[in-house]
Amino acid sequence: MAKTQRIGIIGSGGIASAHVRAYKQLTDVEIVAVADVISGKAESFIDKEQLHGASPFEDHRKLLELDLDGVSICTPNASHHVTTVDALRAGKAVLLEKPMSVTLQEAIDMVHASQETGSMLTIGFQPRYDPNMKVVNDIVQSGKLGKVYYVETGGGRRRGMPGGTFIRKDLAGAGAMADIGCYSLDMALNALGYPKPLTVSAYTSNHFGTNPVYHPEADKFDVEDFGVALVRFENDLVLQFKISWAMHMDSLGSTMFLGTEGGLKVNPFGTGNWSGVWDGRVGDMKLFHDFMGKQTETPIPVTNSDTNLFFEKVRDFSEAVREGRTAPIPGEQIVIQQAIIDGVLRSSSLKREVAIELPF
Ligand SMILES: NC(=O)c1ccc[n+]([C@@H]2O[C@H](COP(=O)([O-])OP(=O)(O)OC[C@H]3O[C@@H](n4cnc5c(N)ncnc54)[C@H](O)[C@@H]3O)[C@@H](O)[C@H]2O)c1
Repeated sequence: MAKTQRIGIIGSGGIASAHVRAYKQLTDVEIVAVADVISGKAESFIDKEQLHGASPFEDHRKLLELDLDGVSICTPNASHHVTTVDALRAGKAVLLEKPMSVTLQEAIDMVHASQETGSMLTIGFQPRYDPNMKVVNDIVQSGKLGKVYYVETGGGRRRGMPGGTFIRKDLAGAGAMADIGCYSLDMALNALGYPKPLTVSAYTSNHFGTNPVYHPEADKFDVEDFGVALVRFENDLVLQFKISWAMHMDSLGSTMFLGTEGGLKVNPFGTGNWSGVWDGRVGDMKLFHDFMGKQTETPIPVTNSDTNLFFEKVRDFSEAVREGRTAPIPGEQIVIQQAIIDGVLRSSSLKREVAIELPF
């Protein structure tokens, strides 16, 4: 019989329940501890989720003193850094919720902690498990598009602003660009093989979030609800990235890859206030190319699978830990998109283009 895998959960809010639901479907996995800074919250979570025998903690460092195989880090973005670095240095494998961090330096620290300790760090981008993500990667990497020189990604919700910890800079660090923008960036950059960014020029605003007509917590809202950025990469490639949580428009458009031999358009799934952004489901895809001298459009069949993307990410982490595999979505890769988000925040505050410097 396989040894029971011992898991800890740090941060017991909304997304922690999704982690618990996934771990519970796995055999030989037990959630043995939960930590939350709010007094009594870990106990209530253990009761609510029926994690019989799990130990509650307020301080994540106490949880990390236990014998654990891995931890899920489900705290708001601003606490990702301290909890992740402490967990890696305590020798625990980490499944960290997206976005990886707030600043680039925090993400670099995490990668160093993982490399120095040999503890695995994987970032929780569940859309990677969408079969359509593989199709996008295969098309871009097949060379069928020729040299890809321009990519546009992002998308926008007409009215889909979260509240609570997501809208406070001290807890979330950033707003829409990091919260949902990270998914679009991952789709585009993963397909492109995570090229090295050089500069970013960005604009962000929060006209909706700070207006009580549109947001019930307008007085607490101090992150961006809209942003646009132009990113230059090392291999003569540019990427335009735009995101909104709220706007007077139905869409900010599709993701598109423009290449010298072809173009790929990926439309977001769904309609309505909270749709219009890439977060794991593709609406439809089309390849634009010339065939026998004729301008041709080829629809790409979309797989509408009932894969539970969230379960897949937790399963893959758990199995990678058990099998001693490398991180499914390594911190070393996601640090690159964190460099872009860090650049977006710096550029929009300085109101000019900024350079991106990566130590790797
Ligand atoms: N992958 C996804 O689909 C998805 C969806 C929603 C949220 N998220 C991410 O998950 C993270 C958490 O989001 P949420 O909606 O659960 O937020 P939340 O505010 O509901 O819960 C966060 C919890 O963490 C606790 N916390 C804060 N600092 C802590 C610390 N240092 N140690 C222990 N506990 C701490 C808070 O008290 C709170 O209970 C965010 O980074 C968010 O971006 C991912």
